[in-house]
Amino acid sequence: MRTEYSPAQLEPIAVYRLLTSTVVPRPIAWVSTVSADGVDNLAPHSFFTVSSVTPPIVQFTSVGRKDSLRNIEATGQFVVNLAPEPLVDEVNRTATDFPHGVSEFDAVGVARETSARVKAPRVAGSPVALECELHSTLRLGDSTVVFGRVVHIAIDETVLENGHPEITRLRPLARLGKDEWSTIGDVLDLRRIRYSDWPASS
Ligand SMILES: Cc1cc2nc3c(=O)[nH]c(=O)nc-3n(C[C@H](O)[C@H](O)[C@H](O)COP(=O)(O)O)c2cc1C
Repeated sequence: MRTEYSPAQLEPIAVYRLLTSTVVPRPIAWVSTVSADGVDNLAPHSFFTVSSVTPPIVQFTSVGRKDSLRNIEATGQFVVNLAPEPLVDEVNRTATDFPHGVSEFDAVGVARETSARVKAPRVAGSPVALECELHSTLRLGDSTVVFGRVVHIAIDETVLENGHPEITRLRPLARLGKDEWSTIGDVLDLRRIRYSDWPASS
């Protein structure tokens, strides 16, 4: 037996709770931006994924109009910083609804570093920074999907193993439903099976 739901007959908050509790775990884009008047901003967004590789585009969704979205619309730039487990409290605190002129870097005490290709700073303690130029936005009801072309990738060399990011060194956080978060659990290493190797195909 399953419980069946029709989103059209539910309150939006109920749909939100069902979707965010079932589309899990979600990686967290820790998005840094700078406003038109030069105040930098940092906020986590878990409606986040890779959109395409050629060209290299990532996307996140602003539910409502927030400082991150306004800054990106004004400047055309942002950085997606990986949200690492050791900084979980800082990531959470940057989700506080500080007033527009307040920088979460300063209010929370997150160290910045200069980006290579964009004005928005990187999070110094994050192992990965994807520097992005705004590609486009897509309005979906009260939300806006932001697509960013990745113009520069900076990775802390201590998380690289043979030149490749190693998952137990990256230690990414993820978002679940309610106020739940998760860390990397067991890592499974499975090769994809080619059809020519499929037992019944020979
Ligand atoms: C782990 C986590 C993930 C979040 N994901 C999103 C998201 O995907 N979209 C969104 O609009 N808000 C999300 N939020 C809430 C924003 O971070 C929060 O509204 C923040 O104050 C926005 O900051 P800004 O106004 O400086 O952009 C998330 C919060 C947390 C703690």
